[in-house]
Amino acid sequence: MTSDHEPQAASSAPSSGPAWEGSQLTALAARHGTPFFLYDLDAALAQLARLVAPLPATASVLYAMKANANARVLELLRGRVGGLDVSSIGEVRLACAAGYAPATMSFAGPGKSDEELREALQLGVGLISVESPGELRRLGAVARQLGRRAAITLRINPAHIPNAFMMKMGGQASQFGIAEEELEQPLRAALADPALELHGLHVYAGTQCLDAAAILDNVRATLTLVARLAGEHELAPRVVNLGGGFGIPYFAGQQALEVETLAPQLGELLTQAQAAEPRFAATRFVLELGRYLIGPYGVYVARVVEVKVTRGKRFAILDGGMNHCFAATGNFGQLVKKNYAVSNLTHPDAAPERQELVGPLCTPLDSLARAIDLPRAEPGDLVAFHACGAYTFSASPLLFLGHDTPVELVQHGGEVSVGRRRLAATHFA
Ligand SMILES: Cc1ncc(COP(=O)(O)O)c(C=O)c1O
Repeated sequence: MTSDHEPQAASSAPSSGPAWEGSQLTALAARHGTPFFLYDLDAALAQLARLVAPLPATASVLYAMKANANARVLELLRGRVGGLDVSSIGEVRLACAAGYAPATMSFAGPGKSDEELREALQLGVGLISVESPGELRRLGAVARQLGRRAAITLRINPAHIPNAFMMKMGGQASQFGIAEEELEQPLRAALADPALELHGLHVYAGTQCLDAAAILDNVRATLTLVARLAGEHELAPRVVNLGGGFGIPYFAGQQALEVETLAPQLGELLTQAQAAEPRFAATRFVLELGRYLIGPYGVYVARVVEVKVTRGKRFAILDGGMNHCFAATGNFGQLVKKNYAVSNLTHPDAAPERQELVGPLCTPLDSLARAIDLPRAEPGDLVAFHACGAYTFSASPLLFLGHDTPVELVQHGGEVSVGRRRLAATHFA
């Protein structure tokens, strides 16, 4: 962590998101109230199409719904992604409600309970990505009780992960996956258990990588690892889940990945790997992406309730904060706390002034922008936080202090509709 109050440059919108019209956001605030999220699915779907087009037919992209599980977002992605990466039976149920076939889901994540595994098998979830030897044993037992075979991938925690992955899920001891060097016995157990059907292997190394070369290196390393294991165990994997970890720019100075170069290179890499390795002849390659597919296309808009100047600092106190947009506080996995890109929608041309943008919660953590040079915010002004489409609504303490949830708006075909209405805390009583 850095010191919380390092002065930060004023923020412009990061390069990969839509250029939001202040007048549109202001009109939406008047119509729907604040705070709100707006997700631009027109832009998100266009980017998804650019990503998928150069990939070979044997590759598919799953949407990691943990990033944003809004039902309307899920519905609009359906049919355009190969399926979903899900992480709880709650997500499976939400996905079913949004029209996804369970067979298109890959269920990963540590700590899946027996009940979750049972329901997943009963519903026909396509693949269960097994994260530990214990889970492998429990899943085998549950499948036997049900008289079914469970289709699985084994998730591997690789020994090394490129440094450019800002958040690492492996390369060290962790609750995720089975360590590469400890895989021998669980792999044999999976192959020996008639209640389990080993479809392939899964590596999710980490995420928030903005370095295309590192992403490609990671895919290459995964293919090499899987080819070696396939050779040693005489497997021909039906599926290799390559993870993904495609990052998005959140902060000033970060550059978006160039999909126009990354996607064809990735496509070429997969095509070559398939041609070179006979064991991959019938393999389906899977990428699972969350933030890359929705993060840049969301904006969070809140209103300044009050401005307080004290001890030389100017605090603009907003009607929403970490309860809606926890990641913007810098406490959601960021190594260094930096400000998201922010705009003052009401007074974009006001003279920049150093200020703190804080939410209404009774904790010093509720700070959405620290020492930011922004056009001076006045009471009533609307403030927009960019790149807020992922890990915001789905990863914030929404009920903390009993404020209403933010309304979520979805733009598609140029029209904006309510994706999820505002809910009062009493709704959850
Ligand atoms: C197993 C797995 N798949 C996919 C994702 C999605 O990551 P991102 O949203 O960064 O693409 C995560 C993120 O934690 C994950 O743990």
